[in-house]
Amino acid sequence: MKLKKLLLAAGLGATLVLGACGSDDSSSSDTSKDESTMSDDSSKTETAVDAEKIFANNCASCHGNNLEGNVGPNLTKVGAKYSSEEIQKIIKNGKGQMPAGILKDDKEIVAVADWLADKK
Ligand code: HEC
Repeated sequence: MKLKKLLLAAGLGATLVLGACGSDDSSSSDTSKDESTMSDDSSKTETAVDAEKIFANNCASCHGNNLEGNVGPNLTKVGAKYSSEEIQKIIKNGKGQMPAGILKDDKEIVAVADWLADKK
């Protein structure tokens, strides 16, 4: 399905380029331009999740903007205590005073947990 859409988009792009160029005889340079635009697009969609932003919006109120702790404990060395998998479980299930289900999107949970697991 995705491939079909890509092919469709590529076809559309080529048609637009050809249409815009009109009588210009530079078809070889046009195709190389098209390919580079396409690879740019696909790399953008892969890194859509920003762990630091998610933490700032959902966790910093209790754990501090710099992980220094507030209502919740200091997390600056949390990676020495927990693996990414264990942090994912804490985010999903909650812990003590920390409510469960703050994040719903699995991709966001994994991104934040991976990011925190690096804090040692
Ligand atoms: C409502 C306040 C609150 C929010 C929001 C919150 N936490 Fe917590 N968090 C706590 C409290 C309180 C604890 C301590 C729980 C305990 O051990 O009893 C805790 C514990 C933790 C721990 C375990 C720390 C340790 O040393 O045992 C991790 C990891 C953690 N939180 C990550 C997160 C992440 C990631 C988010 C955002 C998705 C988040 N927290 C949002 C209050 C919060």
